Amino acid sequence: MQESFDISSSSGKYNVVAGLDLLEQVVSEHPDAIYMVDERLAGTLPKSVTRKILIEANEGNKSLEKMPEVLLKMREAGANRTSHLVAIGGGVIQDIATFTASIYMRGIPWTYMPTTLLGMADSCIGGKSSINMLGYKNLVGNFYPPERVLIDMAFIQTLNADQVVGGLFEAAKICYARGYQEFLAYLQESPTFPMSADNAQRVIVRALKTKKWFIETDEFDQKERLLLNFGHTFGHAMETALGYRLWLHGEAVAAGMVVAADLSARLGRIDAVATQRITRILERCGLPTRLAPGLSAQGVRELMGVDKKSKSGRLRLVLLDAIGSANIASDVDERLLLAALSAHAQVPA
Ligand SMILES: NC(=O)c1ccc[n+]([C@@H]2O[C@H](COP(=O)([O-])OP(=O)(O)OC[C@H]3O[C@@H](n4cnc5c(N)ncnc54)[C@H](O)[C@@H]3O)[C@@H](O)[C@H]2O)c1
Ligand SMILES: [Zn+2]
Repeated sequence: MQESFDISSSSGKYNVVAGLDLLEQVVSEHPDAIYMVDERLAGTLPKSVTRKILIEANEGNKSLEKMPEVLLKMREAGANRTSHLVAIGGGVIQDIATFTASIYMRGIPWTYMPTTLLGMADSCIGGKSSINMLGYKNLVGNFYPPERVLIDMAFIQTLNADQVVGGLFEAAKICYARGYQEFLAYLQESPTFPMSADNAQRVIVRALKTKKWFIETDEFDQKERLLLNFGHTFGHAMETALGYRLWLHGEAVAAGMVVAADLSARLGRIDAVATQRITRILERCGLPTRLAPGLSAQGVRELMGVDKKSKSGRLRLVLLDAIGSANIASDVDERLLLAALSAHAQVPA
């Protein structure tokens, strides 16, 4: 059964639909649109779609350096000011499409069909684009929500266990950031791999409706929405250190959450038992709970300094106050920060 709800944003409302057969629906509604599609999914497009731009989903292609090429392909596909863009893919395609739609001929309307669990349960709403530049992750970006988000459950079938678990984890994080009750309600939806289309839809819609609260309360990342970055400052540093290989985003954030919880305990904000509980939940999901092999505490700390969410040297971290209650902390004691990282490193300090 299809489900539908709206998201309010400063640029107006947009609609989210989750269900089956939505790819066919979008193609019949937008036969002349430009389709920007993850190269891997080219085979799923109906033959009738002729105006398409295929892009390999990788961090290098999601960069400012590659944007002229993408914009040129839009031009070559005949896009003009009245064209509609339909993007089909995961977070990488979404970021490229958001940015493209926002600047091509001063902005054109677009539709997004997320195809990874991360895209479906998290990034597809919120309207953000994050583009890499000169090796810096997500340095450039803007807000430009699509007109509609269509989540076709059929795309779940080809995702592997790691991709699903990584996405489930981001969904869990959203619910966790909203409060313990919301988190328990999420767990009751049986977020496990493999998932039936029905099950996936329930998990995804719950996570999105929870995220809806965050983005409608704080569209531009000033306060509440920052809580969704729980584990991310540590996670991003590890992803950078690993050169975006070895770990999926969700795995890096999982390990980051454990360090953030450990630091919260060292600062006396939560009981150490809470850290153990989070660690156990993540382990049960098969997620990492230590720094990636070979990474030192000091090395990760140095990379955290360049996170774009830190204000001139003052690192702002999302820490826990109690299970399910997170807050932004600045001026965290460096020794305790390093101790929390060292406690989870797999190499000697
Ligand atoms: N703009 C935002 O709000 C936001 C939020 C979170 C993450 N992101 C960005 O999203 C990116 C990560 O997103 P992602 O994990 O979706 O990555 P992705 O788009 O790179 O997809 C991951 C892999 O899955 C493949 N794939 C996509 N759909 C598939 C399907 N249905 N079946 C099989 N394989 C499929 C892709 O080809 C790719 O190899 C990062 O660049 C991150 O910065 C953006
Ligand atoms: Zn994330």
